[in-house]
Amino acid sequence: MLSVLNEDFDHTLNGLSQQEKEKLRNSTILITGCAGFLGYYFMHFFQNKAEVLGIKKVIALDNFMLGYPQWIEKLQSDPIFNIQKFDIIKDRIEGIEGVDKADFIIHMASIASPVFYRQYPIETLDANIWGLRSLFDFYKDKPIKGFLFYSSSELYGNPDTAHVPTSEDYYGYVCATGPRACYDESKRFGETMCMLFAQKYNMPIGVARPFNNYGPGMRLNDKRVPADFALAIKENRNIEILSSGSPTRTFCYIADAINGYLKILLHGSYDFFNIGIESPEISISQLAEIYVEAGKKVFGYTGKVVYATSADKDYLTNNPQRRCPSIDKARRILKYQPSISVDNGVKRFLRFIKESEEGEYKW
Ligand SMILES: NC(=O)c1ccc[n+]([C@@H]2O[C@H](COP(=O)([O-])OP(=O)(O)OC[C@H]3O[C@@H](n4cnc5c(N)ncnc54)[C@H](O)[C@@H]3O)[C@@H](O)[C@H]2O)c1
Repeated sequence: MLSVLNEDFDHTLNGLSQQEKEKLRNSTILITGCAGFLGYYFMHFFQNKAEVLGIKKVIALDNFMLGYPQWIEKLQSDPIFNIQKFDIIKDRIEGIEGVDKADFIIHMASIASPVFYRQYPIETLDANIWGLRSLFDFYKDKPIKGFLFYSSSELYGNPDTAHVPTSEDYYGYVCATGPRACYDESKRFGETMCMLFAQKYNMPIGVARPFNNYGPGMRLNDKRVPADFALAIKENRNIEILSSGSPTRTFCYIADAINGYLKILLHGSYDFFNIGIESPEISISQLAEIYVEAGKKVFGYTGKVVYATSADKDYLTNNPQRRCPSIDKARRILKYQPSISVDNGVKRFLRFIKESEEGEYKW
């Protein structure tokens, strides 16, 4: 296992309380969307910590619509996993062996990168709505201990500055017919469904609203900014910014974020939480400079930051100007405490890419 990942998994685990860890003992976990960025981290984390946490089985599903990663092939031989090609929109969940025994369900299936979900808008909508519905229909009368639905900070749309940092009680300012609506609106609809099924069937549903994660597992051709910049560093090309560089974000390193997601999964009752990091809120230009500095140290990078225009006319349509969470609720209720700074996280991400290239473990 790569050294960055080992350290990151310890970090994710150490943020869980003893009580939270105990809940995973002897458990079967079902994950949809296991082959994506967050899937990469979850799958390797569960493999790495299965023994210490006493996890019995991980049933992992994905339709591999963006490709079949090499690392999935490697995990196939580990008996802890049952990995299956499965489309959450149309395949029948009862056909998968062992799903009726699942204690925890993590529903992540839905492309997260704007460039790609705009290529598959109806599939994105369906995975978040009908995919979720079919899981609820199957699990509504089963004794599950936790169900985690991945919503998004995109459900807040483009908040005015009075609502930044954005807390969970902000309703959102979202365009229902723009190029990002397939994603934003299906996450909103999904959240409504979570609330209704939790009310009617008393299901322990937790909703995560992630704010810009990055780090190991993100495909370098993913087209989200942290991946684009990492690819430019790896290839020693100039970093191209396809906007004015002024929109701001906070960037939450994956090892912190997954700790937050696990806390929601293990919470045991219905609620919804922002998961991210509240500072620093930086512009895309500042992020690019952080990559340049980290790139020099890790790769001996010699490129610079340049500005360009995307050939895609909708690339920036409805792109929020500011995205920054209030995570007070998760801090208070879940004791979630992200701590990895963006400077450190970017360095770790680049180190991970370098280690994967040099090692036997092909990413
Ligand atoms: N990464 C982030 O910063 C972030 C931010 C907000 C929300 N989220 C949410 O978290 C979840 C995971 O994000 P990610 O970054 O890993 O996304 P990703 O795009 O890297 O991976 C998504 C995975 O879902 C799979 N998938 C899509 N439709 C499917 C279907 N119908 N059936 C089975 N599998 C299907 C894809 O093949 C892919 O492997 C998504 O629901 C996303 O909306 C992530």
